[in-house]
Amino acid sequence: MKKVKSFLSLILLLMCTLILTACGKGQDKRIIRISHNQAQDHPTNIGLLAFEEFIESKLGDKYDVQIFPNELLGSQVNTVELTQTGAIDFAVASNAILESFDNIYQIFNLPYLFDSPEHYHAVMDDKELIEPIFTSTGKSGFEAVTWLDAGTRNFYTVKKPINTPKDLKGLKIRVQQSASNIRMMDLFGGAATPMGFGEVYTALQQGVIDGAENNELALTSNKHGEVAKFYSYNMHQMVPDILIGNLKFLNGLSPEEREIFNEGFILISKVQREAWGESVKKAKIHAEKDMNVKFIYPEVSAFKEKVLPLHQEVLNATPKLKPIYDEIQRIGKEMKEAK
Ligand code: GCU
Repeated sequence: MKKVKSFLSLILLLMCTLILTACGKGQDKRIIRISHNQAQDHPTNIGLLAFEEFIESKLGDKYDVQIFPNELLGSQVNTVELTQTGAIDFAVASNAILESFDNIYQIFNLPYLFDSPEHYHAVMDDKELIEPIFTSTGKSGFEAVTWLDAGTRNFYTVKKPINTPKDLKGLKIRVQQSASNIRMMDLFGGAATPMGFGEVYTALQQGVIDGAENNELALTSNKHGEVAKFYSYNMHQMVPDILIGNLKFLNGLSPEEREIFNEGFILISKVQREAWGESVKKAKIHAEKDMNVKFIYPEVSAFKEKVLPLHQEVLNATPKLKPIYDEIQRIGKEMKEAK
């Protein structure tokens, strides 16, 4: 059904483009389509709007940037495929789902990989470390051009709070569509239920799942807090979102244009991250006051213990991750010592 919906959206989109072009509007301009799955008030959309404005101010005679929020063009899995083929030019994808294109992305899906948001940001901003990861999917027709903050992921549930990992037993918890996340949930002791982000609200409402895990904005921007009333800060993952671009499109830009696009990519990250902190603060207040969500602060170490074996398991299965993992640990240690 989802596939049919996104296919129909795509047909509609192409028809609109044809009509607009026939009317003379947008003529001669190359439309750049960017898809994401967040609402319009989400920091990611705000960052992308800044990109649209920037590119059009510099190259507006040639490019018309169009942003499609809210899974309008399909789920992340669908839109990564659309970016691969060049049906669209860019898509925001969670790092979680990119591991099926190159297993190097497994690294950022590891639970409790980072010591703090500062550690996470420092690693993601480390060009040397990130470059080989971002270019790893060239063979699949796309590359990553920048990353976006997606906060810290925590459990939230409909009927009963999660205070210890034992509380997860027997609960169906939605996870992102990635083998690492399914394995992580197994280790936590819950029943992993993978599905696309856009399906989570209804699944919570209809009792198909007992809970999910995400940052605080899922409660408000995606309205999950209308149904799930317990949010537990067990802090298991900081999984970045990644903006990917069709490689043919990127390689087709002139060196001057590419420079401008690169500036634009940096701008997205900057604006998105600036908006992030304030959005999370507001989301917490809104969820607590207006949606009656209870925030819970459990003992994190009990959760950590359950899933830490996953680090060695993944490193054994994918040895190329070891130098990246070691470097991430080194950066963390250095940051702790500098405090
Ligand atoms: C976050 C993240 C999205 C992701 C979603 C999910 O909202 O920013 O990229 O799709 O989690 O859990 O699927």
